[in-house]
Amino acid sequence: MGIGADRDPIELFGEWYEAAQDCGLREPSAVTLATAGADGRPSARMVLLKAVDAKGFVIYSNFESRKGLQIKENPYAALCFHWMPLGRQVRVEGAVEQVSDAEADAYFASRDRASRVGAWASRQSRPLKSLFELEREVAKFALKFGLGTIPRPPFWTGFRIVPEHIEFWMHRAARLHERLVFHRSDDGWQTERLYP
Ligand SMILES: Cc1cc2nc3c(=O)[nH]c(=O)nc-3n(C[C@H](O)[C@H](O)[C@H](O)COP(=O)(O)O)c2cc1C
Repeated sequence: MGIGADRDPIELFGEWYEAAQDCGLREPSAVTLATAGADGRPSARMVLLKAVDAKGFVIYSNFESRKGLQIKENPYAALCFHWMPLGRQVRVEGAVEQVSDAEADAYFASRDRASRVGAWASRQSRPLKSLFELEREVAKFALKFGLGTIPRPPFWTGFRIVPEHIEFWMHRAARLHERLVFHRSDDGWQTERLYP
């Protein structure tokens, strides 16, 4: 019974993620991403998980955004998934690296056209005078690219959170929840159970 401490945490995450995709949630890939810049003050926002494997958890964003600047100053982040219908939470912490240009290009090319134009049009996290200004930027880039290829903007890429700690949390009655943390060490993953 319970979460197996002998498991590989990435494989276990894969099983939980698959269950999350089958439990009726609209955005099972939605995850809170927490970052802090040089001032050490945390900020958090939702993003979408776009890939996960033994190398880490990949999300995409504008690296001139607030989160992007914070990651540049302090390349560490935390992710927190919550799949309410399953009573499950997964927390991931680790260093952040940029994905390769080839990986980012491939993902960008898979996005629908409007999202590709939108990535060019949005100077994410910077002040916007009015929604009209945003619409104007969208129209400008839609016109610029026409029906041609839309390259990945130079300020837009993927960030990979390379896990050092992964905690699996499972709801149990009377708040006696189960918590199992995997810590990465030179010898592989070590596990530790925590009081709820
Ligand atoms: C469900 C959901 C998914 C989101 N996914 C992303 C995403 O994958 N990438 C992204 O840059 N912003 C995403 N956003 C917007 C962010 O929450 C945030 O507003 C934006 O990235 C700017 O954050 P920052 O100013 O802290 O950099 C998402 C928002 C929601 C509500």
